[in-house]
Amino acid sequence: MYVSCTLVCLSNIFSFFLCVWLYRNLRITVYTSVILTVGTFYRDDAVNIILIGFRGTGKTTAGRLVAERLGWEFIDADDYLQEKAGKDITTIFDEGGEKAFRRMEESVIAELCGLERRVIGAGGGAVLSKKNVKNMKKGGVVILLEADAETIYERLKADVKTRSQRPRLTDGDLHDEIVHLLEYRRKYYHKAADFTIDTSHLTPEETVQKAITAFEERLTA
Ligand code: S3P
Repeated sequence: MYVSCTLVCLSNIFSFFLCVWLYRNLRITVYTSVILTVGTFYRDDAVNIILIGFRGTGKTTAGRLVAERLGWEFIDADDYLQEKAGKDITTIFDEGGEKAFRRMEESVIAELCGLERRVIGAGGGAVLSKKNVKNMKKGGVVILLEADAETIYERLKADVKTRSQRPRLTDGDLHDEIVHLLEYRRKYYHKAADFTIDTSHLTPEETVQKAITAFEERLTA
């Protein structure tokens, strides 16, 4: 008797959470689809979500989740560039310097921003090029993810991608580099962004919800 009551309770709890999950996801999918269908009818520009922001601000983690929620594909611009080049970013820097990497980055950003219904994670320095910013603005809604220097420092130290994809950009130590570049790039990030989300104290799920809301608002604006 006791066991069967417990099972019924557990099954009710499970059903409740399943319903909440289905409602939230279904609502977002239907709502966004309607906006997109109506929106694309009179928009010339492509409809993508482009995530920008400094290294370690969560573009890849959030980007994958946003894409999953919308039923779109997520493309990390750095991964795509490395695939095309057949080598990792650190090697590209070693062989041709930052200049060679930025040239490749421009062609990748132009290509990806011309696609439709993709979530694109742009490299942290992509906003430094006017050409990239123009392509990103034309390519969709540009969302800036921010985080404070300490959070970024801890995330970069822990991320396995740092060694192969994040060659050092200054002669200072990692912490100084982050502080210096965040300050220097701030105006570039804000000029490029349609929306800004500070991810320092947000869970990935909260970041995703804010990004989707920002995207829907922009499409209906
Ligand atoms: C860079 C950031 C990296 C990568 C490259 C240069 C930068 O991308 O594009 O190492 O200039 O900040 P992530 O932001 O994905 O780490």
